[in-house]
Amino acid sequence: MSDTTLRTVTVQLDGTDIEVAEGTTLLDACRSQDIDTPTLCYSDVLHPVNACRVCVVEVEGSRPLVPACSRAAEDGMVVATDTERVRHSRKMVLEFLASSVDLSYAAEEVHGWMDRYQVDSGRYGPPAPPDGDRDERKAHAGHHGAVDGFTAETVAQPAKIDNALYMRDYSRCITCYKCVEACGEDAQNTFALTVAGRGFDAGVSTEYDFALGDSACVFCGNCISVCPTGAIMFRSEYELREAGLWDEDRQEVTRTVCSFCGVGCNLDLHVQDNRIVKVTSPQDHDVTRGHLCIKGRFGYDYVQQLPDPMTTPIDEVLAAARRST
Ligand code: SF4
Ligand code: SF4
Ligand code: FES
Repeated sequence: MSDTTLRTVTVQLDGTDIEVAEGTTLLDACRSQDIDTPTLCYSDVLHPVNACRVCVVEVEGSRPLVPACSRAAEDGMVVATDTERVRHSRKMVLEFLASSVDLSYAAEEVHGWMDRYQVDSGRYGPPAPPDGDRDERKAHAGHHGAVDGFTAETVAQPAKIDNALYMRDYSRCITCYKCVEACGEDAQNTFALTVAGRGFDAGVSTEYDFALGDSACVFCGNCISVCPTGAIMFRSEYELREAGLWDEDRQEVTRTVCSFCGVGCNLDLHVQDNRIVKVTSPQDHDVTRGHLCIKGRFGYDYVQQLPDPMTTPIDEVLAAARRST
């Protein structure tokens, strides 16, 4: 007979002893105590990759700070989540990112953490002019651009718009690896995306930097759903944002079941001005864990009549939003 008794460990968290199931991460232990811990590269539906280090905590006896999202609680561990060292480290991570990446579309909670840790990205100087050679250098790892020491280097670069379904703006990319994981073995097993280049030049890329239609991409959009900064985005959302018409206050989200096959994926249809503007899937659903295929993610146009055959779905999303403002 197998032993199904749940083993537990006792951890001291910010001075309080708590008991958690063996294998629980420090992040989940913190969550169980309502200790808000910043995370960027972590997702409940992906394996931790420890890329961002914004979740670090101090563990007694450990020289380096420890990433809470991946470190399992151990019996007798003494953990501090809000020391000067922890706060300083989190501030630096957020500050370096904010000085080099456009975080304006990042979730509200990210901006809340930036306020909490008093992020001042302006102290690195004004942004350096956009560097047109980034993609080129990605292909030649080790050849970094020279810095001038007065301006803050950024990852600013033109958005990649090469298909009708979704776009990529790596000016907003924090290289958290979530899209790579979702495209790879954590969900889609397509491996269309990876990180190319080294150091500051590192960035997400398709094979040989091909346009998506020429890459291995199967347009499932699972990369969009995990991206924390809006670097990968539905074309409809992007075009509405560019036109100043994206308005979440006017949006309704309706849960339904995908009609294309018998798997039963749940879909959340985000509707603005009577037009579907994007489709997501709930992460806590057993069937999909937030992941979908191209049909569930993008195959919704058949429910929306277009006024004439020359109109594209994106034109109509924009026209509907304009009619309502
Ligand atoms: S849409 Fe799917 S297959 Fe294409 S890059 Fe994103 S995760 Fe990979
Ligand atoms: S594109 Fe988004 S999900 Fe992918 S590495 Fe960049 S920030 Fe992370
Ligand atoms: S959230 Fe833990 S390392 Fe990124």
